[in-house]
Amino acid sequence: MAKHPKRTNTANITKTARIISVASQKGGVGKTATVTNVAVGLVSLGYKTAIIDMDAQGHIALSFGIKKIDLKKTIYDVLIGEATMQDIKQNAFGVDLYLSNNSLSNLNSKVMAQINSKLFPAPKYLLRKAIGEIKAQYDYILIDTSPSNDIQTMNSLLASTDIIIPVLPEGLSIDGIYETIVLIKGIQEQGSKLNILGILPTMVQDHTNLHHVKLQELRKQFAETPDIKVFDTVIKRAIRHGLAQSDGEPDIKKAPEYLSFVKEVFAIA
Ligand SMILES: Nc1ncnc2c1ncn2[C@@H]1O[C@H](COP(=O)(O)OP(=O)(O)O)[C@@H](O)[C@H]1O
Ligand SMILES: [Mg+2]
Repeated sequence: MAKHPKRTNTANITKTARIISVASQKGGVGKTATVTNVAVGLVSLGYKTAIIDMDAQGHIALSFGIKKIDLKKTIYDVLIGEATMQDIKQNAFGVDLYLSNNSLSNLNSKVMAQINSKLFPAPKYLLRKAIGEIKAQYDYILIDTSPSNDIQTMNSLLASTDIIIPVLPEGLSIDGIYETIVLIKGIQEQGSKLNILGILPTMVQDHTNLHHVKLQELRKQFAETPDIKVFDTVIKRAIRHGLAQSDGEPDIKKAPEYLSFVKEVFAIA
C-alpha cells in the first residue's frame, strides 16, 4: 500500500484525509480500543489525526478521560445542522476529537421522520457532509462505530474511504466479519469506493488452543480472498489495554502491538 504523505508545515498544501471506519456488527471486539490506539499511534508518528465517535455509547470520550456529562454539543448536533464541527472539537493526547453521547441514538427518528424529509433529503450522507468541513486539516480521520446496522453506521461507512474490521478469534465474533462484509458489499453497490483495509485479530490469547486454531482457520479462509486480508499483527488480550481505556489515558508506549499495526496497515517504515 502506498505510504501516505507525511504532514508538512507548508501552509498552502491542501491535503485530504483518509477516513477510516473501524466496524464490526459484533460488540465487545475492540473497535473503540482500536480507534483510540491507532489514533495515538498515528499522532506519535507525526500525523495529524482526528476521531469521530459515531457510537451513542460515547466510549471515545471515556477513553480520552472526558466526561460525557460535560459535553454540551456533540456530533449529533452537527449532523442535524445545529452545530459545526469546529464548535464541538476537543483535543486530548494530541488527537482532535468529535465526540458523541446518548443523544446520537435520536438520529434515526429525527432525520428519517417524514415531517423532516425536506430538511434532511440525504439522511445517510450527513456525516460525509460534516467531514467535508474538516478533511483538509487531517492526514487521518478515524470513525468509531456501533455494532448495528443503523443510520449512524450507514453514515459512517458512506463517509469512509477505508474500513478495518476487528475480530476476536472465536466463533460468534468471526460470524460478525461476514455480517460486516455483507453490509460493506451493499454500500459498495451504492457506488461507494469503500476499501476493506483488512481484518485485525484482537484480544488474542496465544496460549489458548481455541484462539490458535481459530486464527489459523481465519487466515486460511481469507488467503483465498485477494481483496480481504487478515493483518499479520495481532492484538493480545492484556489487562493494560482495558485499564488504559477505563482510566482514560491512552498511551501508545503501553500498546506496542498497535504501533506495529499502524506501521503495517499504513506501510510506514
Ligand atoms: N486487547 C485487549 N485486551 C484486553 N481488554 C481489551 C482489549 N481491547 C479492549 N479491551 C476491553 O474490552 C472491552 C471491549 O472493548 P471495546 O474496545 O470497547 O470493544 P467494542 O468497541 O468493539 O465494543 C473494553 O472493556 C475494553 O477496555
Ligand atoms: Mg465501542
